[in-house]
Amino acid sequence: MPKPRVFVTRIIPDKGLEMIHEVADAEIWPGELPPPYSVLLEKVRGLDGLVCLLTDQIDGNLMDAAGDNLKVISQMAVGFDNVDIQAATARNIPVGNTPGVLTDTTADFAFTLLMAAARRVVEGERFVKEGKWKTWGPTLLMGHEIHGATLGLIGFGRIGKAMARRAAGFNMRILCYDPQIDGAAAKTLGVENCSFEEVLVKADFLSLHVPLNEDTYHLMGEEEFKMMKPSSVLINSARGPVVDPKSLYTALNGGLISYAALDVTEPEPITMDDPLLTLENCLIVPHIASSSIATRTKMATMAAANLAAGLKNERLPNCANPGVYER
Ligand code: DGY
Repeated sequence: MPKPRVFVTRIIPDKGLEMIHEVADAEIWPGELPPPYSVLLEKVRGLDGLVCLLTDQIDGNLMDAAGDNLKVISQMAVGFDNVDIQAATARNIPVGNTPGVLTDTTADFAFTLLMAAARRVVEGERFVKEGKWKTWGPTLLMGHEIHGATLGLIGFGRIGKAMARRAAGFNMRILCYDPQIDGAAAKTLGVENCSFEEVLVKADFLSLHVPLNEDTYHLMGEEEFKMMKPSSVLINSARGPVVDPKSLYTALNGGLISYAALDVTEPEPITMDDPLLTLENCLIVPHIASSSIATRTKMATMAAANLAAGLKNERLPNCANPGVYER
């Protein structure tokens, strides 16, 4: 029996690739950049399975181009806003994702961003390397206190909760807005359940932990920044389009907030003429919050396990559209 045919849209960590090669005749896209959509349309023809990343646009048109054999789409990420889930469900195609494994890794990094922004770590490093360090300065690069400050969380899912656990270790007051808040977890973690506006008004640090969807697109815009403290710091490790970048620029440039630390941007990658890149008070890194060796390896093996199950018509261990099994 020939092995099922699979396309993998980038070179993923070795352990994941080894597992994929065991169960499939796999073509791996070798490029550093994602395959263009037009190429992907060609590559998917007649496939049994697709392993994709958040940089690939996976829509109904692509699913149709694959044809009737396509049994599984396995995304190596927890977020799947790049995949048209409704289109997949309508075609009975299960979509795999990788929840859980990156929770603590992402929260570690969101807290790293919080600390780096508060204490101006990147500016300090630049200052030294540019030869500007002449002496100990009584007012040199003064930043914001972290311990005892108020952390506002927008979203109290897995990563929001992990962020609260870290903040508790710094004696922070923790406020949270989540329309479907897990009240028991909030109580255990000492998190105060607030309205969206209350969190914006009171937070010294505002950290976003929501998925990207039509309700959260540009959730943070001009009106929201106007409500925040001028000394406050925004941390985004969720998805770039949750923040309106033009309003963020105006807020940072005009002193509505003091700092932003972004793991994600709109668009990705950020274009080199984006005005946010000109600001000293905006720290930007290239969507690496989940990028520890252990976590990216586990994400790859989880994606491979989802693929393997789907190819055998078994239930995916982690399925983003479980509705496919209820039809
Ligand atoms: C995810 O898995 O959705 C993350 O954004 C990847 O870093």
